Amino acid sequence: MRDIFGKETGLTDKEKIKNYAIGVFDSGMGGLTAVQELNRIMPNENIIYFGDTARIPYGSRSRETILRYAGEDVAFLRRHEIKMIIAACGTVSSVALDTPIVTDDMPFTGVIAPAIEAACKATKKKRIGIIGTPATIKSGSYIKAIADTHPDVMVIPQACPLFVHLVENGYTDFNNPVTRLVAEEYLDPVKKENVDVLILGCTHYPVIADLIGDIMGKDVALISAGAEAAKFAKSKLHELGLLSDRECKGKNTYYVSDSTEMFEENAVNFLREDVRGDVFRSDF
Ligand code: DGL
Repeated sequence: MRDIFGKETGLTDKEKIKNYAIGVFDSGMGGLTAVQELNRIMPNENIIYFGDTARIPYGSRSRETILRYAGEDVAFLRRHEIKMIIAACGTVSSVALDTPIVTDDMPFTGVIAPAIEAACKATKKKRIGIIGTPATIKSGSYIKAIADTHPDVMVIPQACPLFVHLVENGYTDFNNPVTRLVAEEYLDPVKKENVDVLILGCTHYPVIADLIGDIMGKDVALISAGAEAAKFAKSKLHELGLLSDRECKGKNTYYVSDSTEMFEENAVNFLREDVRGDVFRSDF
């Protein structure tokens, strides 16, 4: 029997692999919005998270640099016992999914396909807004994916270059005047297009979802790309028979390429609770 790693194995190996961790990475802390959802829907799974906090942002870098960084993030996760990889980063998902960083020996997902599936299901007007980093919007990844699968849906894209910096630096309060001003500037053109769904195409953005929702209005549904990727991961693991059969709560282990203190301080904004689990600094 061939297992997900392509090796000839018996059932025993699959039984072992199902209790391996789910590997998640992002350029920084944004991927924690996926971890929050993973913990909620699969509390018994172990998670290994890598946040490249020393090199964030990825979203304003060239395709070559993003691919190099993403390749190193994946290689880092693969040195651990993992059964699936989630690229919990809209930017990496936009530029790297058709490249060699994704190997077929392990389930792998980015955030785009899960997010557009949820968005296209939710839109009644068939008008969807998509906000993301400059690299994500420039790649046209969401627009292409929607054109391929839902050609009747109109997409209004908008890059929001300052959001990642504001969120990583803790400018996340609903009443923060700086963040509101910036958000109004970015979102007004999308709002004028009369969309009824807005994809938060960068995994950092759900942290300011209250503010984004307030500006867009209550009739606009917000889709978190990270949370949708987490739901997709659950259905993929279920389909492959690789959900953990652990009966106790799983464990989260975090690795970051910069200060662990800074990570723990700000992670609460993404996880909506204090960090549970060990946090290590790692230089790949
Ligand atoms: N969280 C990343 C994303 O989803 C973006 C951050 C960055 O620019 O590095 O696109």
